[in-house]
Amino acid sequence: MPPYKLHNILNKLFIKIFSPNKDTTTQVPLPPEVYMRLVCGQHDDLADQFNWAGEVVLNMLDEEGMTADGTSFLDVGCGCGRIARRLMERPISSYTGFDRHPGMIRWCREQIGARDPRFAFHYFSLQSSYQTLDGHKGRQPASAFAFPYPAASFSAVLLASIFTHMPLQESVHYLRELYRVLAPGGKILLSVFLSDDEEDGCSEVDFYYHTGTFLGCLEEIGFKARFRQKLAEHHWYTLSTSEAAPALLLDRDVEQTSG
Ligand SMILES: C[S@@+](CC[C@H](N)C(=O)[O-])C[C@H]1O[C@@H](n2cnc3c(N)ncnc32)[C@H](O)[C@@H]1O
Repeated sequence: MPPYKLHNILNKLFIKIFSPNKDTTTQVPLPPEVYMRLVCGQHDDLADQFNWAGEVVLNMLDEEGMTADGTSFLDVGCGCGRIARRLMERPISSYTGFDRHPGMIRWCREQIGARDPRFAFHYFSLQSSYQTLDGHKGRQPASAFAFPYPAASFSAVLLASIFTHMPLQESVHYLRELYRVLAPGGKILLSVFLSDDEEDGCSEVDFYYHTGTFLGCLEEIGFKARFRQKLAEHHWYTLSTSEAAPALLLDRDVEQTSG
């Protein structure tokens, strides 16, 4: 048996033993196979993979305190609701997901949004490397897409396997938008493919960033990054706004009160 199969079996067993009551998905049917393949890739045990990955990400969000009561949640590139379906049993106050695939967003609205009024799904016609997989061309370059959300409107943001499919300059643009829409004290959980080669590597839909370059971009924008874990090829990070901003505010306040 190949090692990855053994790894998958052990993971599923672990989830069944340690979180037997956490499967929140019974009320929402599985998405059509074609959508699950677009977000998971090719697998013989597609539904198991879909559920397993959703559970893993949900556990990370729980551990990071990103599913707590009152959370306003943004899911960038929400796909066919692999995470959204699991967030339905969490006490978050609102969930907004967006994607550039019209069919997946329609399916999420019908199957999740219609069941739970906290959940909203938005479609934007964006250009993406994913066109190679699903044929959806998109009108607007992602590098020019202004998120149509007010500043400081989300306390938790997820990008699960999104930057892994975007060239670095597009991701940097998204990070600037995220810096704007993240509420003070908010947190971002994201995955990236990293490599220490000189050049950023890429295949048709997979993009690897040079580790130092990526971390440098985060710092320049004003994010504080914390490495969480590596799962398969995915490096998971949490981001918060760097402490420089409050410190500057403090200096200004001091100047004002002393002047
Ligand atoms: C691997 S799937 C992950 C979907 C979802 N985050 C999940 O974990 O199930 C990648 C998703 O990113 C979406 N996507 C690709 N480029 C995007 C962009 N520029 N902006 C938003 N979503 C994008 C695709 O349509 C696809 O649904």
